[in-house]
Amino acid sequence: MWEKWMRRALELAALAEGRTSPNPLVGALVLDQTGRLVGEGFHSRAGEPHAEVGALAQAGEAARGGTLVVTLEPCCHHGRTPPCSEAVIRAGIARVVVALKDPDPRVAGGGIAQLRQAGVEVIADVLREAAEEQNHAFLHRLKTGRPWGVLKWAMSLDGRTALPNGLSQWISGPPARAWVHRLRAGCDAVVVGGGTVRADDPLLTSRGQRLPEPLRVVLSRSLDLPEKARLWDVDPAPTVVAHGPEAAGRSLVCGPERLPLEECEPKALMQALANRGCNRVLWECGPKLAAIALRQGCIQEVAAVVAPKLMGGMAARTPLGDLGLQRMEDVPTGMLQHPIGIGDDWLMRFRLRACIDFNR
Ligand SMILES: NC(=O)c1ccc[n+]([C@@H]2O[C@H](COP(=O)([O-])OP(=O)(O)OC[C@H]3O[C@@H](n4cnc5c(N)ncnc54)[C@H](OP(=O)(O)O)[C@@H]3O)[C@@H](O)[C@H]2O)c1
Ligand SMILES: [Zn+2]
Repeated sequence: MWEKWMRRALELAALAEGRTSPNPLVGALVLDQTGRLVGEGFHSRAGEPHAEVGALAQAGEAARGGTLVVTLEPCCHHGRTPPCSEAVIRAGIARVVVALKDPDPRVAGGGIAQLRQAGVEVIADVLREAAEEQNHAFLHRLKTGRPWGVLKWAMSLDGRTALPNGLSQWISGPPARAWVHRLRAGCDAVVVGGGTVRADDPLLTSRGQRLPEPLRVVLSRSLDLPEKARLWDVDPAPTVVAHGPEAAGRSLVCGPERLPLEECEPKALMQALANRGCNRVLWECGPKLAAIALRQGCIQEVAAVVAPKLMGGMAARTPLGDLGLQRMEDVPTGMLQHPIGIGDDWLMRFRLRACIDFNR
């Protein structure tokens, strides 16, 4: 019977999709003693009240003796907001139904223990897998210290990303390109290499679907970047230029903020982005950087837009540079979601298996 209400709590959590980083998505609802829905809430962004607080406030006195259904274990630490476990106890809630234990080391079962100690019945693991799926990017960052990486490309049916002469705009149609804007809206940062800035002068925004817009990141070793580029205008969205120590002394002809890294590598960038609170990062780079990001374990998912076009060419560009693979047994595999038609194009989403080790 709790599944039905947990499904609703997950729906509430999803209302803030892409906006809560570094925090997870959380939804909550309150049922009164008779099982009637009396309050709903969700966590809208970091620094704003937690989902439980909103649901309890809406329920008011009706929460006494009632049930709180929440997608994540209530917190028990003083962060930017006071602990929810105390608010739940104070509201006189008799039962708490939880989907997912909070893996945050500051909570990690402590919230549930505190509730039980206060005599509140706790039912855990209700729709746990669905809750894990909803927060997979947050959970991945807590586990690995790096954001969840999504690599996106558009290609023709014959696997090309440009004509032999380099021309590439546009491979996919307007509906698929609008879908990419939505994909960006669910991410905290979008990364390209210096090569893509020089070749395409991309804008990389969600076209206002996520405010603030995701952070736009250019990873460049040489800092040999054009003086004028759409990315340097930080009115629509912030931009940072990330580089390694070899470029530390070099000046930038353009204006955006610099992000010095210990080394100019995707893994160092992902670490830095995790430190800035990013849960999900979209890689929209060319083949060179894409291959290196994959080899360094920075990519967990691929989103490929496949256009019903044949572009041909022996020397034509493909989406991925050399992965250094020598044996078919080492080729990375994963799970392909059922492809979705968007306009004339097909969208393929592919999750890599966790155990890929490119360094063998
Ligand atoms: N079809 C698609 O979906 C799609 C998407 C994006 C790009 N593209 C195409 O890809 C082409 C550009 O390809 P690309 O491979 O040059 O672009 P890229 O992968 O975006 O950029 C490569 C650049 O990344 C920088 N970089 C930073 N750290 C690096 C590291 N550790 N190792 C290697 N490079 C590092 C270097 O920039 P510096 O040289 O500045 O040091 C390097 O030249 C363009 O023609 C573009 O149209 C296609
Ligand atoms: Zn809380």
